[in-house]
Amino acid sequence: MLTVNTLFELQTAIKVWRLARESIAFVPTMGNLHAGHLQLVNVAKTKADRVIVSIFVNPTQFGINEDFDSYPRTEQEDKKSLKTAGADLLFLPPNTEIYTPDTQTIVSVTGISNRYCGASRPGHFDGVATIVCKLFNMVQPTIAVFGLKDFQQLTVIRIMVRDLNIPVQIIGVETVREPSGLAMSSRNGYLTAEEKAIAPLLYQSLINARDTILAKYLPYSKIEQQALGFLQQAGFQPDYFSICRRSDLDNARQEDTDLVLLTAARLGKTRLIDNICFRKSLE
Ligand code: PAF
Repeated sequence: MLTVNTLFELQTAIKVWRLARESIAFVPTMGNLHAGHLQLVNVAKTKADRVIVSIFVNPTQFGINEDFDSYPRTEQEDKKSLKTAGADLLFLPPNTEIYTPDTQTIVSVTGISNRYCGASRPGHFDGVATIVCKLFNMVQPTIAVFGLKDFQQLTVIRIMVRDLNIPVQIIGVETVREPSGLAMSSRNGYLTAEEKAIAPLLYQSLINARDTILAKYLPYSKIEQQALGFLQQAGFQPDYFSICRRSDLDNARQEDTDLVLLTAARLGKTRLIDNICFRKSLE
């Protein structure tokens, strides 16, 4: 696996693959790789001739009081895991290679970026859309692979790609979970042992709500309230629990059939997110 730090080196390597008419799948990450990221690489390998992974802890998607400084940086371990997983190239740029001091452009997917996670993390999805757009321009992949765990992020990226006519196919990959059901996340490392025992209840709240929706009629607002109550009882400080239409993340109506339940909650100092997608039949 080749590791490069500059855009020049990245594009030199890519040029050779393009000349050989090889397709490129791209997996953007912020590092501290776990089984969920490696699954993205596995899927990427089945979709293209070459797999490029980037590791860049993007400052513009962190709020002032968020964990940018303490975000886990584990480059050496990450390199080993990517080599074993069979990635062809790791792009590991310093901040100066990505943002110049006079940067003036922000990509903003309006509307959806201010809801759910965006409501409590103002500017977060502008930071995500901007870095992903920049990385797409740098790598120009045929395919880009993202985890379904960050469901709102994936939706923001899909809308950006559609609206800006970016010629890349976006693929979403199932969330990888611990045996307890807890979705794998780099932020799980912040949890204490006690919190780690409680954390799987976030996924349980989604399963409970899904099962209620599938079993009987109850107004969605009531199911959302029940889920928030369940999370509070378990020791979380829930941020939101929302029953959404999968296509555009608008609030679901009873007649919608393709649903996603989105939730975010704090457990001690750690903010966790999760979601579950399912279809509801109307009979
Ligand atoms: O999901 C992530 O790790 C990040 O938000 C991403 C997509 C790499 C952009 O920095």
